[in-house]
Parts: sequence; C-alpha cells; structure tokens
Amino acid sequence: MPTIIEPFKIKVVEPIHMTTSEQREEILRAASFNLFLVRARDVVIDLLTDSGTGAMSAEQWAGIMRADESYAGADSYYRFESTMCEITGMPHILPTHQGRASERILFELIGGEGKVVPNNAHFDTTRANTEHSGAKALDLPIPEAGEMSSEHPFKGNMNIAALRKTFEEVGAERIPVVLVTITNNSGGGQPVSLENLREVRAICDEFGVPFFLDACRFAENAWFIKQREAGQQDRSAKDIAREMFDLADGALISAKKDGIVNIGGVLLMRDKSMFQHASNLLILTEGFVTYGGLAGRDLEAMAQGFEEVLREDYLNYRIRSTAYLGNKLLDAGVRILEPPGGHAIYIDASSFCPHIPREQFPGQAVVCGLYRVGGIRACEIGSVMFASAGSPPPALELVRLAIPRRVYTQSHIDYVAESIVELHEKRDSLLGMRIIEEPPALRHFTAKFEEIS
Ligand code: F0G
Repeated sequence: MPTIIEPFKIKVVEPIHMTTSEQREEILRAASFNLFLVRARDVVIDLLTDSGTGAMSAEQWAGIMRADESYAGADSYYRFESTMCEITGMPHILPTHQGRASERILFELIGGEGKVVPNNAHFDTTRANTEHSGAKALDLPIPEAGEMSSEHPFKGNMNIAALRKTFEEVGAERIPVVLVTITNNSGGGQPVSLENLREVRAICDEFGVPFFLDACRFAENAWFIKQREAGQQDRSAKDIAREMFDLADGALISAKKDGIVNIGGVLLMRDKSMFQHASNLLILTEGFVTYGGLAGRDLEAMAQGFEEVLREDYLNYRIRSTAYLGNKLLDAGVRILEPPGGHAIYIDASSFCPHIPREQFPGQAVVCGLYRVGGIRACEIGSVMFASAGSPPPALELVRLAIPRRVYTQSHIDYVAESIVELHEKRDSLLGMRIIEEPPALRHFTAKFEEIS
C-alpha cells in the first residue's frame, strides 16, 4: 500500500484561526517583519519548532489525571524512572524542566575555562551553556554535512579524523566530554549511524574521556538507522535505540521532542559520583531529585510519550510524512537540504532568491513571504540568527519548516507545500530586508526589520 496514514484518530480538536492576506499584511508590518513577534493565534500553520508543540495521546492525558503529586518518591517518578531505564539502560536518571536545564547542570559540573567540547554540531543552547561555563564548543561535522544535495545517508555523523586530531592537538585532559547530537538539528535533522557512534566510543575509550549523547530526537535517529544502515533492518527501533545509549556514558534529553510532551527534560549518566554532584545542582535550582522542576503529571506524560515514540507505525509515519513535504518541494524545483531530515525540512534560501544578497537576509525574506502567502510560520536559520556583529556568516542560508508531532494532517502539509510552491513561482518579487533595531545577543527573537524596496 503506497499511502501511509496517520496512525491515530482525532479525539480533541483545536480550531485554526484563519486570516486573509490583507490581515496578514497588517500583522506582519505590526510585528516589524519578525515572526517571533506574531501572536500564535494569527498563524495558520505553525512550523516554528517541533519542540513542545506535539499532540499528546489519550493515554498521556489519562496519565496526567492519574499522576501522583507527592513532593518526594511519587509513583509518577518511579514510572518515569523505570521507563527511561528500560529504554536507555542508564542507572542514574534525573528529571529536569527541559533540555537546557540538563545542559546547564552538566556543564557546571564538567565545563570551565580552557576546556574544549567536541560535538558533531552543537544546538545553540548547548553551545551557549558550554561557553557560559568558560569552555569552547567545537563543531566537527563530516564534510558532506555542508553540501545541500549530498545524498549521504548519515550526514549527521561526527568527523572521526577531526575528532582524533582534536584529541592529539588539545590533549585529553582538556576535553571533559565528547557530545554527539542525534539527530543533528543544526545540520538539518540528519541522522548519525551506529558505526559512527561506535567509532566515537572507541576514541573516547582510547583517551579515557566520557561520551554523552544529546538525544532529543533519539527515536527518529534509531528509525533512520533501521532504514539505512547495513544489517539493521530486522531490528526494532527500540533495540537500536538501546544500542545507541549502550555506547554512551550519559545523555542530555529535551523531552519536548521525542518525549512528545509540552515540557520536560532528562539528564542520564552511568557515573555514580557525577550523579551525586548533579543531584545537588538539580536540588539547588530545579527541585528535588524525584521531580526536577516538573509536576508529577509531567513525569507521567513523559514516561508514556517515550514509550509511544518508539512504536514503529508512529516512526514510519513520522519520517515518511516529513519526507513527503521535502519530496513535494523537490518535485517543484525548490532546493532543500537533502535528504529530508527527521523533524524538519530546510529550504535553501540562497537559491530561492538569488537576487537577494546575504547581507539583506534572503531567509528572512522567504519567512515573511511564506507568512504572507499562507499564514505559515517558519524559522530563519542563517545570517539573522548567526551573523551578528563580529561573527562570520554561517555556511548556509536556510529556512526551517519544523513539523510538530501528531499535530498536522496530510492536507495541512499539502497546503504548506502549495504555499511554498506559489511563493517560489513569484520569488523574483521578494525584497531584501534590513535590521532597524536589534538586541546585543540572540537577535533573531526580537530584532525589527524593514523591507528594502
Ligand atoms: N539540543 C537540541 C539538539 C535541540 O534541538 C534543543 C532544542 C535543545 C538541545 C534544547 O532543548 O529547548 O528543551 O531546552 N531545540 C528546539 C528547536 C528549541 O526548535 O530546535 P530545550
């Protein structure tokens, strides 16, 4: 059967507030052409992020009602702990309020001046927490990661030769941990192979350094391995996920992605003494070790979400439906980062509007165009986000269409594709932009723009 259906029925619906193109023009101008400043109710299809925007299942909502809200030792904590232990095999598990809280605790423990943290590619909060501790965040992607159209099946892989060179040049004593992000969000939602994880493990063993996963999208990564890596086809996604975690000494997880919850995170590790120190830091700012800044109901929803995300009918639908959008765009001649990623499609803004120079933010022009045409909210990942004063422009000018989990149906995605194709057909009319107001850091959230006519 060529058609893959959404493996769920809809029990509760949330109306979409439709807008006309005249209204959207006014809204866009009032928000100074920055989609972060647009109210969510004025967005028709919201593809700003796949983080915390998923739809929970009936079982998750039932768990929310059943939850135990005791301060210490709640049943909900024990359910969460045993689920995470079964999926990951990690003996020490702390709940946190979201991924960056796990990052903050880890880097407060092992970061610091003079240290260097290699990663295939840091997500921006991971980089910020590493650098806030005084350490340097070093991205070591494979060369194919920077090529728009490379069909490499594991473009998220860590560059093993560059990792070895880093150990030899920097010295193991200055490298507190090696991180690998699965899937690689900053590199287009591309997966990392088991073979690559085994190679990272071997180097970490050779130099006696711990290996941690940034595992927000671990289930999507496991599914790609099942589809693409030789010899993995007959294994379950759950079994592959377990092997990924077995190779690591610990993991940071934002449960807002593959936990399919609106808030939550996890910090996992094997080392007992590190766990004791992490527990103290958790208590200091997040909460006691059996709730970590969350309510019991959040722990129930996370436990259930992590079980559901490994179901293969779900993963098949998830990865196929993201690719469905990517393939529609490719068929219409819109260049995207290939192959399609797990959680998002990344449009190549430079080729979308070659008449707009990088200093006039082609990605932001596409983002504004998409809002005008279809009320779609996407996210610029290019010079607005990364090239503020003093820093060089990033390798690529991209627009990310992140797909929330279990939220939109195939006709919503058809509408998104049609809007992008319509914009692509009249792309010559897109105007460059200039920034008229910006904060000193993380400017993409609040900067104000105007169009250059
Ligand atoms: N690591 C990765 C790979 C991420 O993609 C994110 C969040 C985090 C860590 C931080 O987790 O938001 O729970 O604190 N990514 C979101 C995104 C925000 O839109 O890609 P958090």
